[in-house]
Amino acid sequence: GETITILGLESSCDDTAAGVVRLVGNQPEILSSVVEGQTDLHAAFGGVVPEIAARAHAEKIDTCVEQALSDAGVALADLDAVAVTAGPGLIGGVLAGVMCAKAISAAAGLPLIGVNHLAGHALTPRLTDGLSFPYLMLLVSGGHCQFLLVRGVEDFTRLGGTIDDAPGEAFDKTAKLLGLPQPGGPSVEARAAEGKSARFAFPRPLLDRPGVDLSFSGLKTALLRARDGVVAEKGGLTEQDRADLCAGFQAAVVDVLSAKSARALDLYLDEAPAQPAFAVAGGVAANRAIRAALEQVAAERGVRFLAPPLSLCTDNAAMIAWAGIERFRLGLRDDLSLSARPRWPL
Ligand code: KG4
Ligand code: ZN
Repeated sequence: GETITILGLESSCDDTAAGVVRLVGNQPEILSSVVEGQTDLHAAFGGVVPEIAARAHAEKIDTCVEQALSDAGVALADLDAVAVTAGPGLIGGVLAGVMCAKAISAAAGLPLIGVNHLAGHALTPRLTDGLSFPYLMLLVSGGHCQFLLVRGVEDFTRLGGTIDDAPGEAFDKTAKLLGLPQPGGPSVEARAAEGKSARFAFPRPLLDRPGVDLSFSGLKTALLRARDGVVAEKGGLTEQDRADLCAGFQAAVVDVLSAKSARALDLYLDEAPAQPAFAVAGGVAANRAIRAALEQVAAERGVRFLAPPLSLCTDNAAMIAWAGIERFRLGLRDDLSLSARPRWPL
């Protein structure tokens, strides 16, 4: 069968990444996946600083590429193309990746393939589990929250999504408000495991409304109010207070995501897919309580549930290389006029 080997680059947020994926016949293999985080650089600012991110990407991308090629044991001459995230994301970072990919493409005479970052996440279950179209995808990260009906490599239908914050952002803000370390997701999840979710009443935004749109900004306000209530009463927060606040917050996120997933699944099942499947991606999909709840919603409907391994759920370049392979197979190429796009809806 056909063999396709593609180098992927990713630099749209706060991870600089390069990876090589090879397809032999119908069997994909991740030959390498290098991810350089920037958490330390942004820690003092309580969020990603675009200027700092852009500079760090520009500094690190070359060594990430070298490392990815050497880990994979391939030379530029072994590649069929170079794929790069061309958006959406922080424009300075996206530009750093696109310029690096263009340089490689021009120097090595390789086809250039621009990939939508969201498509990279959305196509990952085909890399990990060979899913066939159409499947339902919930993309939940620090910047995104949307239900996508994935019908093809270039064919996505957005069923709905957040009307304000992304859940990862809400986890990060919750951690910040409670003085817990960033990124907030893992630290809030760990505290929530020690807490009682019933102690504080958190809202379940938009559950009373039809459709699959979600909202998380009200949860942040509710958390602030609950925290200030405890502080006013006792002069500070104990570890148990923190744990109970985390548990209450996380339980609300779990309820909202499962209720909306149930509705999105019903819409998807209306199309009578041959092999129904529901996949999650994005950093928030790392959350065990959220995974378990979504798995149950899918199981109740006889739908296969998939969560890619954590390293492929969060930002990485193997998913970009894979999306590149999917596009390459269909004859989709870009050229040196490829532009970096801060906004790029699927
Ligand atoms: O996909 P990702 O690495 O980057 C983008 O946002 O694109 O996701 C990072 C987000 C952060 O907001 C982080 O707090 C959240 O995913 N996250 C989690 C967990 N692990 C990471 N949220 C909830 N529970 C977790 N265990
Ligand atoms: Zn992402």
